[in-house]
Amino acid sequence: MRGRQDVRVPPEVAGACVDGTTFRSVMGAFPSGVTVVTTLGTGGAPLGVTCSATCSVSLDPPLLLVCLNRNSRVLSALVDRGQFIVNFLRDSRENTSSLFASSTADRFASAVWEPSRRGGLPLLVADSIAHAQCEVVGVIDAGDHTIVIGAAVDGNVHDDALGPLLYWRRRYGRWPAEDDTRTIALTLAAEG
Ligand SMILES: Cc1cc2nc3c(=O)[nH]c(=O)nc-3n(C[C@H](O)[C@H](O)[C@H](O)COP(=O)(O)O)c2cc1C
Repeated sequence: MRGRQDVRVPPEVAGACVDGTTFRSVMGAFPSGVTVVTTLGTGGAPLGVTCSATCSVSLDPPLLLVCLNRNSRVLSALVDRGQFIVNFLRDSRENTSSLFASSTADRFASAVWEPSRRGGLPLLVADSIAHAQCEVVGVIDAGDHTIVIGAAVDGNVHDDALGPLLYWRRRYGRWPAEDDTRTIALTLAAEG
């Protein structure tokens, strides 16, 4: 892609960096949702990869980022296609997250999906609470990962009543039900 950038870490900073185990455990303390980033391969085959490094970037224009390993097969396909969809997984979809992180050759063989109205990209409607379709507007290589910035050209929330799939310290979780939230709030209030 034209304008692809590379983040350079100066040697004196590289020499001062914490080790991988420390960095993993520190970053693992930060909870996230789980997304499946989908696109189409050169022959039109649906491709998708589980990604928790997904982040909102800008409101005007509406930009988001996904950060994928440089060796990801889906990364190269989505940069080539210049388009992708971020499917924000709903709760109880650990299996979908595992499927799209697995070494299974055709992940879509056991996934329920439909083509998006813009370009027919794979949409995991039954597995997600919302989706955003993006055009690639920036690619930044950063260490062993690549940050892809997308401009949202379509998307919506599928069901407001559904909660998200959460991920923290390599474990899946769910957003507390309304009753649990009230109980927690009342307990905190009682504790002063
Ligand atoms: C919960 C979860 C979150 C993940 N988040 C990311 C991520 O943010 N970036 C990434 O590159 N890989 C992430 N992975 C790992 C990829 O999904 C996995 O390495 C996948 O097999 C890569 O597939 P590909 O080479 O077909 O793109 C995650 C896996 C799981 C289970």
